[in-house]
This record gives sequence, structure tokens and C-alpha cells, in this order.
Amino acid sequence: MEPDPSTGAIMTPIYQTSTYVQEAPATHKGYEYARSQNPTRTALETAYAQIENAKHALAFGSGVAATDSVMKLLNPGDEVIAASDMYGGTYRLFSKVWERFGIKFIYVDTTNTAHVQAAVTANTKLVWVETPTNPLMNITDIAAVAAIAKNAGALLCVDNTFASPALQNPLDDGADIVMHSATKYLGGHSDVIQGALMMNDDALREKLYFIQKSCGAVPGPQDCFLVLRGIKTLGLRMKAHCENGEKIAHWLRSHPKVAKVYWPGFEDNAGYAIAKKQMKGFGGMISFELKNDEVAEAKRVLSSTHLFSLAESLGGVESLINHPASMTHASIPREERIKNGLSDSLIRLSVGIEDADDLVEDLRKAIG
Ligand SMILES: Cc1ncc(COP(=O)(O)O)c(C=O)c1O
Repeated sequence: MEPDPSTGAIMTPIYQTSTYVQEAPATHKGYEYARSQNPTRTALETAYAQIENAKHALAFGSGVAATDSVMKLLNPGDEVIAASDMYGGTYRLFSKVWERFGIKFIYVDTTNTAHVQAAVTANTKLVWVETPTNPLMNITDIAAVAAIAKNAGALLCVDNTFASPALQNPLDDGADIVMHSATKYLGGHSDVIQGALMMNDDALREKLYFIQKSCGAVPGPQDCFLVLRGIKTLGLRMKAHCENGEKIAHWLRSHPKVAKVYWPGFEDNAGYAIAKKQMKGFGGMISFELKNDEVAEAKRVLSSTHLFSLAESLGGVESLINHPASMTHASIPREERIKNGLSDSLIRLSVGIEDADDLVEDLRKAIG
């Protein structure tokens, strides 16, 4: 990260301004109005591009605002191939908002690239992949889907929220756009809502910048400051998330009351080989099902932890526990949710950077 160019301040100042004084009409320092440009945001966007090996990056007011901006590249009649078990809010945005504007969504299991290929039509303009997925940690082969999208003349956008740029760089594997809920690992401290898009193509950057300033879903400078600071420790934090995640995943797997553990680092996990190929670590996100697959039993466990706080969101330094069926994925109808493998007792953990033994002890007491 570069020091602030106007003062040399090592921490980029929070430029809390809505406008910039011009010397004469249209004679200015490159900043006219803060919806279009803000120096704190510029510093963050430069950092975003660097950590994702991208040429360009744009910051948005939330992850869904970033996703929404990608959708605005499309026209009525265009088709999107999207992952069937992605974040519920992305599904809600696609099915409840964008479908009304004439965009058609085809949901497939993107872990099976043959399904992606089979869904391609002449109208396919975008392929939307999340890997690892929320909450089943399914792994999609980014390079293989990028080849399919390229052949189809469609863009591939990868939601890289769960891996973070420290573990996975989808542009290097052929994706056209990377999307992040920066609310999660990029911010890292559960104190900001923000989104990001990263891309290499100049024309695509111009189109998305036009959408960013025209539609206005920009983040404020204080939030940009917080994420800039968060990024400085991303590598260290992800190392700790990965180490703790590995310990907890193995411990859960050996627990007699646990039916199944979803974590891409198990060698017998269906996505293991691809995860090993495209990720530098397996992350701190884990889901598990109880043998007693009932909402009531899941709720008992969820209400009994002390170090794991019961909350939506993920990716902060503190550990969180969540019930997808009634929380993050409640917007998906039950029938569809079960069909997609999200059982009633499924519990999702965002493993933080606390002492791993303390976290295991907390889960031991809660699961009983
Ligand atoms: C994988 C994933 N993508 C996108 C989002 C949406 O991001 P935001 O909440 O910052 O709008 C989330 C939020 O939970 C997420 O988990």
C-alpha cells in the first residue's frame, strides 16, 4: 500500500467529503464528486486490485450491490447459469429482482462442469460461480468453467468471498470478474458492510465503473478506511483461520453425534483435488449435520455455545455459528433447500482466530 500522496500519511486519511473545489470550471485534481471518485476509495480499489492479481477493482456499498452491478451488464432475454447452492441473498437477488427484468437464470450444480456445459445456450451471457459454496463448501473447477464460458462467449464471475484473495485468485484461472463480500474476510473484523469487483479487461472496467457511478452503490470513506486496514492483516488472519479450521473439521468428524462434516480439506471430499489445485489453503468455513437431523436439536446446539457467537455473517476474527435453514438461507423455500442438500440440522461455522483448543471445548460442551 502506498502512503497518502498529498501528505505522506502511512494510513490513508478518511476523505470525508462529498465534493472537491475546482480551480476553474473542469480544472481539478481528478476528483469532482464523491459518488464518482474519493481518494480513500481509490487507495482501497488499488489495494483490491493488487491482492486479487487484477488490473482494476471497484468498491461497492455491499457484496450484493457488487453482484447487482454485474447483473446490470445484462439485457432482457439474456441467460445466466448460476450455482444451485450459492449464498441465499444472491439467489434472492437473482430470483426475486432480476427475473422480473427479463433475465433468465438456470441453476446447476457447477461442481459438475458437464452440467454447466449442458446449460449453455445462444443466450448465455454470464456464468455465476461461488467456490467454495455457502454453506456446503462445494468446489467448482474455475479453469474448467472459464473455458466453457469463454467458448460460449459469456463472462465468468466468481464469488471469491469464502476463500478470500489470500487463498484463491480466480482471474489467474480464467475468470473475467471476481466478486467479494468485503464484509467478510477482507474487512475481517465484523465492523463494515462492503463489496468489491476485480477484473483485468479495460472495457469491462469502464462498463462497471459507469454502472457504479450511475447507480450509486458506493461505499463511504470510513468503510473504505476500515477495509484498507483489514487487508493489511489478511494473510496472517487467513493462516490462523486455516489452521483452526483444519483442527475443528477433524475433531467434528470424529464426534459420535455428528453425521457429516463439509470442509474441502478432507482428502475424501469430492472437491479435494480441485481445491488443492486452485486454493492455497482450505479456509475456516465448515458446515456439519447432526445425526439427529432436526431443527430443534440444531437450535439446542446453536444456543449452547459461548465462544462461537450465534450470528449471520462470517470471516471476522471472532468465531460465529449459524443455522442456514432459519438464518442465511431462510429465503430459499424448504423443499428447494433440502433438494440442494441443506438439511434441517445443518450448522455452519465461521472459525475465527481464537485458541483452537478453546473453540473445540466450546463445541464439545454444546454438542454434548
Ligand atoms: C458468499 C457470499 N456472497 C455474497 C454475500 C453478500 O454480501 P453482503 O452481505 O456484503 O452484501 C455474502 C453475505 O453473506 C456471502 O456470504
